[in-house]
Amino acid sequence: MIKLTRLKNLSIGIAVLIITSCNSNSNSKPISENPFEAQVDSILGLMTLEEKLEQLNLPSSGDITTGTTQSSDVAKRIEEGKVGGLFNIKTASKIREVQKVAVEKSRLGIPLIFGMDVIHGYKSTFPIPLGLSTSWNMDMIEKTARVAATEASADGISWTFSPMVDISRDPRWGRVSEGNGEDPYLAGEIAKAMVHGYQGDDLSANNTLMACVKHFALYGASEAGRDYNNVDMSRIRMYNEYLPPYKAAIDAGVGSVMASFNEIDGIPATGNKWLLTDLLRDDWGFDGFVVTDYTAIFEMIEHGVGDKYEVSELAIEAGVDMDMAGDSPSIPAAFIKTLQQSVENGKVSISTIDTAVKRILTAKYQLGLFDDPYKYGNEERAKTEVFTKENRDFARQVATESMVLLKNENQVLPIKKSGTIALIGPLAKAANNMAGTWSVATDQDKSISVFDGLTEVIGDEANLLYAKGSNLDYDLELENRATMFGKAIPRDGRTDQQLLDEALQIAAKSDVIVATLGESAEFSGESSSRTNLDIPQVQKDLLNALLKTGKPVVLVLFTGRPLVLVEENENVPAILNVWFPGSEAGLAISDVLFGAVNPSGKLTMTFPRAVGQVPMHYNHKNTGRPLQNSEGKFEKYRTNYIDERNEPLYPFGFGLSYTTFDYSNLTIDKSSISMDGEISVSVDVANTGNYDGKEVVQLYIRDLVGSVTRPVKELKGFQKIMLKKGETKTVRFKITVDDLKFYTSSLDFISEPGDFEVFVGTNSDTNLKLRFKLVK
Ligand code: BGC
Repeated sequence: MIKLTRLKNLSIGIAVLIITSCNSNSNSKPISENPFEAQVDSILGLMTLEEKLEQLNLPSSGDITTGTTQSSDVAKRIEEGKVGGLFNIKTASKIREVQKVAVEKSRLGIPLIFGMDVIHGYKSTFPIPLGLSTSWNMDMIEKTARVAATEASADGISWTFSPMVDISRDPRWGRVSEGNGEDPYLAGEIAKAMVHGYQGDDLSANNTLMACVKHFALYGASEAGRDYNNVDMSRIRMYNEYLPPYKAAIDAGVGSVMASFNEIDGIPATGNKWLLTDLLRDDWGFDGFVVTDYTAIFEMIEHGVGDKYEVSELAIEAGVDMDMAGDSPSIPAAFIKTLQQSVENGKVSISTIDTAVKRILTAKYQLGLFDDPYKYGNEERAKTEVFTKENRDFARQVATESMVLLKNENQVLPIKKSGTIALIGPLAKAANNMAGTWSVATDQDKSISVFDGLTEVIGDEANLLYAKGSNLDYDLELENRATMFGKAIPRDGRTDQQLLDEALQIAAKSDVIVATLGESAEFSGESSSRTNLDIPQVQKDLLNALLKTGKPVVLVLFTGRPLVLVEENENVPAILNVWFPGSEAGLAISDVLFGAVNPSGKLTMTFPRAVGQVPMHYNHKNTGRPLQNSEGKFEKYRTNYIDERNEPLYPFGFGLSYTTFDYSNLTIDKSSISMDGEISVSVDVANTGNYDGKEVVQLYIRDLVGSVTRPVKELKGFQKIMLKKGETKTVRFKITVDDLKFYTSSLDFISEPGDFEVFVGTNSDTNLKLRFKLVK
């Protein structure tokens, strides 16, 4: 603390000097924009080159596995001042201890920043992000980030590697589970909500986290859906379809940005100056700091853009400030290993290093770490604010709101809490899989399995029978790869036939079968790309056998991505997609199964009919040869497949309810809009079924003629409303000229006069539409 006090006093003196000099220099940023500039400069003045480089170093503590390497000797290195921040370290007491070393033992006593992948909750775990996005409930999503920040900060974390906003249209890519789906507008709204939720109004409060938008940029467009693969994309597509959510996070004030693993225009994002400086800082005005992804500087050697010196030089020159996991002994290329030499031989200027150091120190000031380095870890708070009843109840509610009802023939759902219910499937008791991928702080075994949830909710009102029915997959090796990180689903010693026989015996005694099938948590997530998007065959075989019993079957589907469900959609009467619902999974699933909550989730990624259709998205362009028939029948020399239809199985925005909604009376207040005007669109939505329910009313537009081709539909607004049984509401939207803007071939962001269609409906497949004109 003595050292800190010394730094603080010194910095006040220098602050006065700088404030005075800034007034006469019209080119420098006004001091009010970076209130910590003076303090930061004063510390910088005390630092050796080595100490500067060490501030840029972000090792992993090794508490949690999220990558391939581990740092050695972290404590010793912190004591030597060789570390700027640490990630993957858990618990308030441990973090306090480590902070103490940094503050009291290192020469300058600069506090560390502690990062973690707090992705969808901390201990109270919410649905995987793709599931959160299907709630279409922005207030609720913001609150999930707020709760996560409260819990993680109580445990000492001050920085989260979230939100992940990579648009993806390719369900083969396992990381679609971590994102918000395929739509740039919706993903942008979610990005904003998450940043506000984490950062709150005061970044230096002890219960907020600095957010980090990732993975900048275009990571979700990896070729063939294979993780870490190349990306090649036109600028016009980038600007219109992939960049908006990152930009939305920047506009919302996100404090940091993580560069992506992929290349852009042939240059890895980590070394891409156009991306990290020209676009991010100069065009978008971002003034926080940029961190690499895990060992990404070193990986640029494999990409083939330089040797160990050159890749670090590329990264720092491009605008990277912090190097994640570069200091592991197995990694030769890292800022701390090569940049000293690059500075000494004139390849990198000291002012470039200073800029990066200043950004890191500024972030530490913004977080209030210089005022109180221990403010984020508080064992008392950790005891009273983490995994509380209130947070868990909220997580349960959120989970119900993210579930998507894909089919419900003859109103099989909701089921009655009476008679005998057979719960069958390898995921029924897999509590450790309920939180889904990227839930590194979750106590997996405290999550509530479907079996435990149903048991609690049913009480003695019905009889619950259980059988595993099958293993996760016929292929043991695949099963092992899909159940890593403490999420094992122990393989049953019995044969497949024995497991099936037991399930059928139980099914025979039941009135209804709840089949809990699909992917395990680690079937999706990082490094979990798939070429086959089916439910694993052994589980399909089980499902088919259960269907043959003639009993009503409800498929409770676990998945981290869109799957191909053509057969299931054909044969299973009810399908409830629950994603990975989080720590309160079993209770939330029971709420929806028994009708305490009416499902209201809507897909944010298209569900294809076949893997061969992907990448697939609703907001595609037309071709010169669209199909001429509305039934989607094959037409030679038109854009279609010889062996599959064009349309998806379930479109973007799709999701059923236990009730039904009717849309009518679409009206528009004027038929034309001037360049500075706006129009009002309204629609009547009626609840025509037998349950109260929530509906996501969606508004899309189509720009019929443009200087460049425009998508067949683009989401431009949505409202989630509650309608009582029998109730009708008029829902109103405003469309402004800004909503009609897009990037032209010269990358100007403009709206062009001409005809537009506006669609409103229950999903993207709506045909309820009107026309209007944009006039000069
Ligand atoms: C992932 C990032 C993550 C980082 C730290 C990387 O492998 O790509 O999303 O934040 O690890 O755990």
